[in-house]
Amino acid sequence: LFGAIEMAPRDPILGITEAYNADKNPNKTNLGVGVYYDDNGKVPLLECVKKAEAQLMEKLAPRTYLPIEGLAAYDKAVQELVFGADSAVIAEKRAVTAQAIGGTGALKLGADFLKRFSPNSEVWISDPSWENHRALFESAGFKVNNYPYYDAATRGVNFAGMLEALKTMAAGSIVLLHACCHNPTGADLTEDQWTQVIEVITQRGLVPFLDMAYQGFGDGIDADGKVVRRFADAGGPLFVSNSFSKSFSLYGERVGALSIVAASGEEAARVLSQLKRVVRTNYSNPPTHGGQVVATVLATPELRKLWEEELAAMRVRIKEMRKELVEKLKAKAPGQNFDFVIQQRGMFSYSGLTKEQVHRLRDEFSIYAVDTGRICVAALNSRNIDAVVDAIAKVL
Ligand code: LMR
Repeated sequence: LFGAIEMAPRDPILGITEAYNADKNPNKTNLGVGVYYDDNGKVPLLECVKKAEAQLMEKLAPRTYLPIEGLAAYDKAVQELVFGADSAVIAEKRAVTAQAIGGTGALKLGADFLKRFSPNSEVWISDPSWENHRALFESAGFKVNNYPYYDAATRGVNFAGMLEALKTMAAGSIVLLHACCHNPTGADLTEDQWTQVIEVITQRGLVPFLDMAYQGFGDGIDADGKVVRRFADAGGPLFVSNSFSKSFSLYGERVGALSIVAASGEEAARVLSQLKRVVRTNYSNPPTHGGQVVATVLATPELRKLWEEELAAMRVRIKEMRKELVEKLKAKAPGQNFDFVIQQRGMFSYSGLTKEQVHRLRDEFSIYAVDTGRICVAALNSRNIDAVVDAIAKVL
């Protein structure tokens, strides 16, 4: 059975963490994976999470199975966060939500669901997109295509190309969009561009699948979630995967959700019944702890306020690191213009570094980045930024 099995390549993102972990250099830096580190280079345990966990510890409860679709309080909190508490799709019971194993698990639930009910559709992802999007939808059995997105010349979005591609897609095509903080480029659409995208998607009967892994890292929780609300207002069908890995710094708890918007409450009930079958045949039902923590924070006004403050502090620190990176690069690599880094949003900078330059950073300086040149600005801090800038200046 195993004799003919070939060695699989390392994962393009998590494989970098594996290589980083194996590196013996004490001054190594991991700018690969999308993880927020504080200025001491540590993954924070948020105060709001600590407090919620203390509350949960006080009334230690037995761990029975959760419902297939997850904790009711969690699913409700997710809907209010994603669609807005006053959303019509919630009031009309047109949105259904299943707690998922992180944002990746949510995408996989959506992909499996779609494969069951729209088996001949093709999936379209941005060029480029998060490395795992293609692999994930292909492993669910879909043909995955790219629509134009990033324009290396302007460091922005090739919006004309994107819109043109949307206009040629067959009805029923599944269009994966990044709701905010595009991964890997950090280049987002403007409000006006979203208006046009929503119009074309609705007119052509395409199926939007919004991936929102970085809510709160762009402009704020509500501002970043706005596009989801606009799509929901357009009527659906709509798929939304969201994650609390980054916004709650709960990476290892795998807390995410898939929400689907249907045309009526009755339709939504049928959708949920089938979504539960997808969950049941994958992992039966989700784990308890992370969902309870998030639900507790979101439902407790003082903890929610604390979370918003802590998330804002993460967002602000990343923006400061962007500015510092640009200023320091200006001094060390005067021929180059990195001003675009300040415009990029979320955790990443699509730095423009080539694969060769990325490999030199790794081999000569133990600085790890994704081969595409994506660096995680959220991993920069006052201690490592000078070494990173020096190394980048040397490989340029
Ligand atoms: C990333 O893009 O680095 C993160 O979303 C982590 C992951 O799972 O790839």
